[in-house]
Amino acid sequence: MMMEKTVPSPLPNPPPQAGEGTNDRYANLSFPLADEAETLALAQRLAARLTPGLVVYLHGDLGAGKTTLVRGVLNALGHSGRVKSPTYTLLEQYSAGGLELRHFDLYRLNDEEEWESAGFRDEFDGQNVFFIEWPEKAQGLIPAADMEIDLHIAGEGRIATLRAKTKTGRECLERL
Ligand SMILES: Nc1ncnc2c1ncn2[C@@H]1O[C@H](COP(=O)(O)OP(=O)(O)OP(=O)(O)O)[C@@H](O)[C@H]1O
Ligand SMILES: [Mg+2]
Repeated sequence: MMMEKTVPSPLPNPPPQAGEGTNDRYANLSFPLADEAETLALAQRLAARLTPGLVVYLHGDLGAGKTTLVRGVLNALGHSGRVKSPTYTLLEQYSAGGLELRHFDLYRLNDEEEWESAGFRDEFDGQNVFFIEWPEKAQGLIPAADMEIDLHIAGEGRIATLRAKTKTGRECLERL
């Protein structure tokens, strides 16, 4: 079958401005992660690039490795205690490596009232770093992501895809 010819666009795409543009190669990075150790190694690289106020959404099925990634980040920042999944508490807080980190798992968030009465809104002070599992459960309540990470189960391993959504997120990925 013949491929239909596409009409060339009349003008070339304008060159990306400094700090602009969405199709630079750092906006979207994928990593195959053969085992848990590789997830932790990626987390370690990410930990070194976090900046205050960064908001990271974590997507992926149950057991895809979202909490494992956060544990790796915290351990890399020097947190030596346990990293509990916030399955029931919804939020766990950490202070590590000079950063305040907030780890949400919103799978069991019921409604906006629960969100407000827990005082979660106050956490978004522009300084705390957020890792948010199941962000879709709090649509409209949480700020937009600087970066979204998808963890996809692939055979015995995982594939992580990191997507920058803001300039801050892209700066983080550029230096990963
Ligand atoms: N790259 C990898 N390859 C194989 N197994 C992995 C990899 N990374 C993590 N794991 C394993 O997958 C499981 C992930 O569990 P984890 O609690 O991190 O998932 P989760 O995405 O947070 O799930 P939930 O949505 O239930 O909170 C752990 O048993 C971990 O050891
Ligand atoms: Mg989890």
